Formats: sequence, structure tokens, C-alpha cells
Amino acid sequence: MLNLSMTSGWRGNGTGNSGITYNSDGVSFTASGDNIGAVTDIAKPILLEDAVISMVVNVSSEFKASGASLQIFAQIKGGSWPGEWNCWSGNETLTAGADSTITCTVKEDDKKFNQTDSDVQIGVQAKNAPTGVVTIKSTKITLASSQTSSAATSSTASSATSVYSANVDSLHALASFPIGAAVTNNDYAAYNILTNASEKAVVEKHFDQMTAGNIMKMSYLQPTQGNFTFTNADAFVDYAKSKNINIHGHALLWHSDYQVPGFMKNWSGSAADFIAAVETHVTTIVTHYKAKGNLVSWDVVNEALNDSSPSNFRTDSAFYSKSGNSAVYIEKAFQAARAADANVTLYYNDYNIDQNNAKTTKLIEMLTDFQARNIPIDGVGFQMHVFMDYPSIANISAAMKKVVDKGLKVKITELDVAVNNPYSGSWPGNKVSTFNNTVALAQKKRYCEIVKAYLDTVPANLRGGITVWGTTDANTWLNDLLKSPSQYNGEKIAWPLLFDSNYNDKPALRGFADALQGTACN
Ligand code: XIL
Repeated sequence: MLNLSMTSGWRGNGTGNSGITYNSDGVSFTASGDNIGAVTDIAKPILLEDAVISMVVNVSSEFKASGASLQIFAQIKGGSWPGEWNCWSGNETLTAGADSTITCTVKEDDKKFNQTDSDVQIGVQAKNAPTGVVTIKSTKITLASSQTSSAATSSTASSATSVYSANVDSLHALASFPIGAAVTNNDYAAYNILTNASEKAVVEKHFDQMTAGNIMKMSYLQPTQGNFTFTNADAFVDYAKSKNINIHGHALLWHSDYQVPGFMKNWSGSAADFIAAVETHVTTIVTHYKAKGNLVSWDVVNEALNDSSPSNFRTDSAFYSKSGNSAVYIEKAFQAARAADANVTLYYNDYNIDQNNAKTTKLIEMLTDFQARNIPIDGVGFQMHVFMDYPSIANISAAMKKVVDKGLKVKITELDVAVNNPYSGSWPGNKVSTFNNTVALAQKKRYCEIVKAYLDTVPANLRGGITVWGTTDANTWLNDLLKSPSQYNGEKIAWPLLFDSNYNDKPALRGFADALQGTACN
């Protein structure tokens, strides 16, 4: 089943159309005449013969009163439409101001849709002198079953991911530990988990934990001193709770400049008062979410170590400098969190520690010190923003093993596997410009190997879970981050997640599931 994006890729159809608009319900158009509608493209290869196109539409009372009808259509692109098909949905099938499902089975007489080497477009248009507004809330295509299954099981299929099904009913159902996704709320409106139906559908189907990509960070929850703003984050936690999804809290303290509130960055008081302010932040937030329930773990401190060799505590962090050039804020934060909630799981979270390098060594040194002094800590979050070729599985496993050997939990907190590695020696000579099938299958294997390494290395009682940093390749932080000329040069060529930009499964999802099911990684 293809669930088409309702947040991008659509345009107006028909002569004289005034375009489409995206809104919280989906895609709307004003039906100002016959054949006015909305249309979107699907890249080849796609085989539409016998496919069922299903749209949830909502028409205005003016549209209904005009007596107009709707027509779903599918067209093979190229020249003068080498194949076309449409289905009639009469006015009687539509209810003003309420959702109606209209469908169309593509069964062209000459079987012109029985081929895969053309892009196609599908859409809906108004007929019979329409006026008023039509909103398309969702568009799903169920391919003929033979198509779906062959694409899903063949590892050599030359199919693009647009027709791919990973045949995974629910990823989290395959695991006995949390399987999470980072989601956005009001930080990226188009992908808002509270309003974007496609985002909700994929999260509710595959994940039993969520992390807020941004909105539980410090500058969101305490923008000015003493002014705690929980409304946005609370709505997100409430939604999760209503869907039996729990929350991993991220992150009580993070040095990243623009997410540290000004009052902390510009602190001019004493170090002791600064540490007290840090404790107030931690205590207030942990207490609030303890009372709310449904939040099971926190990244208490995020990224406090530097990437030098040997590694040490970051000195370019406001927390470090304002604490009197001291890392004492880390243990104070853990102590305050534990005092506020005796049961929530407390993680230290960082990136590159999966490389089994100097930073890993410093991490272990800090853990050893904390344990010797009874500073409360339950586990380590491995962010795991990794590449196809780096770090090696051997190093990832060795690094996790060091944490396991301390008796602490390991959680993969921000997994994504970028196809292109702008830090590699052969960049940009080895640049991949198109997400083709070869890359998709290599990424499937890589996802599988990472999840397998986690299962092989971390015993069941120490598995904090695995979270991917986003749902679709359209909304990955790497599209924003890696756009400096020295890196991806503004191109969106990371494709690091489990779903493509139309919310279709990628082979990576199958790879993740294979590892959970104990199937060999290939
Ligand atoms: C990122 C978010 O995904 C972006 O939307 C935001 O602009 C910057 O922060 N490590 C972390 C996360 O711990 O908080 C970061 O999230 C990604 C890197």
C-alpha cells in the first residue's frame, strides 16, 4: 500500500485552476470549473494495472449544492498520455462537510498500465459545472497483490522504493524493548505529529515510543528564567499516551547554542547560583512529567564530551563555563533528576561514542567515576548518526560492550544511516546522487547489521531500546544540517531513514525487521 504524501508534491489540474493549498487537513482546491482538480506524480517503476486508488475527500456545502461530481484519474506520463483511466464518483456519493471515501480500480481495457517504465500521475478533478472547495485528506494506492509481494520479497528487483512494501505489520511488535521515532510538533509544522495524518499513521503503526526532536529541550521548556512553558510538550505527551506510546525525554541539558536559553548562556551570577538554576530546571521538568506519567526515561545530559583525542569534557559549553569551568553540572543534573523521580531511567547521551575511540574511553572514565561516587545513572544513549561505511560493526559492538560491562543500559537514541558520508576521504568522488535500488539494498543490510549488533551485544535486561531520528527522508535533520558547501552542498542526499518522502516503506525497514526476527542480514 502506498500512502501518498499530502504535504508536498501536489499541483493544480485543469485549465484555469488557481492551484492547490496545503492545510492541516490535506490538499485543497477551489473547483471553479470542469476538470479543475489536484494531481501528483509517482516516479517509475510503478505498475498500476488493477491497483485501487482510494481517496478520503471532504467537499464544501457549496460544492455539494452545485450538484458537481468528482473523478479520480490515473495517467501514464509521456507524450500524449499513453495510458489514461478514470472513475466517476457522483454527487450522491459526497456529503457536505464530512469525509467521504471515493475509490477507483485501474483496469484499462488495453492493459496500458501493465508496464513499469513510465512515471505516472494520479489525481482527482471536479465535473458538472462545479463551484466550492474540495479537500483531499488522504490518498492511498493498493497495488495488485502480485505486485506488492514481488517487490517486497525480491532482493534483486530493480524497483524504486515508491512501490516497495517491507511487509512489516508493525516494527515494534517484533521487539521486546521500545522501538521509537523522533517526531516534530510545532517545531516543523508540516510534519507535526498532532496534525499530519501520514506522520500519525506511520508512527502509530510501527513505534511504541516517541522522542520530541526539539520541543522538550531547554529553550522550549524554560525560555526565560522561571517561565516554564509546557503547553506544546504536554499536548505531544498526551497524544502519545492516548495511543499507548510512551516517551523518552530529550534532553534536560544540551550545550547546543541556540537551544540553550539566553538567561543561561548570558549568566553573570555566581557558579553556585548557576548550578542551582540548572538543578531547578531539571527538578521542575522531571517533576512535571513524573506527575503526567507516560515518560519512561530521560537524556539527562546530552553531548558533554568533546571529540578530541584524548577526549575531555567540552569547554565550549555554557554549562561548563558558567559552572566555574567545571563538569560538576553533569552529576548535579543526574542527582536532581533522581531526586525528582526515583523510577525514571536516566541516560547520558552522546554521538561518536559508537566509534570505540578516545571519546568512548572518556565516557567510560566518567561512568566509572560516577559509579564509584554513587552518582545516579542508569544507562548510555548512543545517538548513532552513522554512515553506510562508518563506524564498523566491530567498533559499534565493542563500544556498547564497554557500557554493558559497567552493568548499564544501552539505548540507541537517534539512529539514522546517511547514504553519503561527507567526512570520508573519498568524498565527493564517491558521491551518490540518486537513491537507487543498489543503495537501498545496501542500506537495508546496514540497518540490519546495526540492530543485530545491538541484540548480540546488549543482554535483554540492559536493552533500553532503539529510536530512529525521524520517520521519512523528507524530514530528516540531515537535510538542514549538512547543507554547507563543504558537506552536502545543499543537496538532500542523506536518505537516512526507514520511510521515503511519501511515507512508503524503504528496504531499510525490512533490514531492521530482519534483525529483530533473527533473519540473516542481506
Ligand atoms: C536536532 C533536531 O533534529 C533539529 O531539528 C534541530 O534543528 C537541531 O537538533 N543530536 C541530538 C539532537 O541530540 O537533539 C539533535 O536534534 C540532533 C543531534
